[in-house]
Amino acid sequence: MKLIRAKDYNDMSRKAANVVSATVILRPNCVLGLATGSTPVGMYKQLIAWYEKGDLDFKAVKSINLDEYVGLDAYNDQGYRYFMNENLFNHVNIDKSNTSVPNGMAADVEQECRRYDKHIADLGGVDLQVLGIGNNGHIGFNEPDEAFEQQTHLVDLAQKTIDANSRFFASIDDVPKQAITMGIKSIMQAKAIILLASGEGKADIMETALFGPITPKVPASILQLHPNLTVVADEAALQVVAQKHPELF
Ligand code: GLP
Repeated sequence: MKLIRAKDYNDMSRKAANVVSATVILRPNCVLGLATGSTPVGMYKQLIAWYEKGDLDFKAVKSINLDEYVGLDAYNDQGYRYFMNENLFNHVNIDKSNTSVPNGMAADVEQECRRYDKHIADLGGVDLQVLGIGNNGHIGFNEPDEAFEQQTHLVDLAQKTIDANSRFFASIDDVPKQAITMGIKSIMQAKAIILLASGEGKADIMETALFGPITPKVPASILQLHPNLTVVADEAALQVVAQKHPELF
């Protein structure tokens, strides 16, 4: 694991954008695994700024998103397809037909999950997977569980996740209770992973996930086994790591 400590959210966003940029420059037709949530928004803004300057070209880039709420369509402003269009795709020259987000409106969710896994395989897997982390250790929407779910699957969201994500909705009752998420296997098969975290709210879970036991009760803990994991996090998110593992800094 490479640990990159950023000063604050802006610094984390810039450093993360540098890692993504390097991938796009070195492999113009790369497959990017993309994440939603508030954490990567600044990174996307930075990528847009570099695209506008002429430093980045997304023409041949393909993308696969981690997850989508069940029951929200592409036009719902709380859905993740909408999020990606607003925060990145509408502002760069990526071909939208090269971008994928699970279909939260699929009549047959199981079939949609199998389609998504096949699509990832057909693309040859993910070159760089961007991840945030939920405050219960979820990645994508892989919630704490008794076993690691490997494939894309339907998930019942944990109450903690519903509570945390309710800040984006008019009321907590509007937060969908289910989502479709890429499984742990697809995430772990990415050639490289970059995990982002910002703010003291993530400080405990970052230490638990990166240095605690590897267990499906903390889904992000599996990342300890990935051969090419880069963590980009700000000082606030790394404060417990810094206290317990001062030798790393
Ligand atoms: C959401 C997403 C995750 C994200 C996480 C953290 O529920 N499904 O992909 O990493 O929660 O969100 P945030 O970055 O807003 O803290």
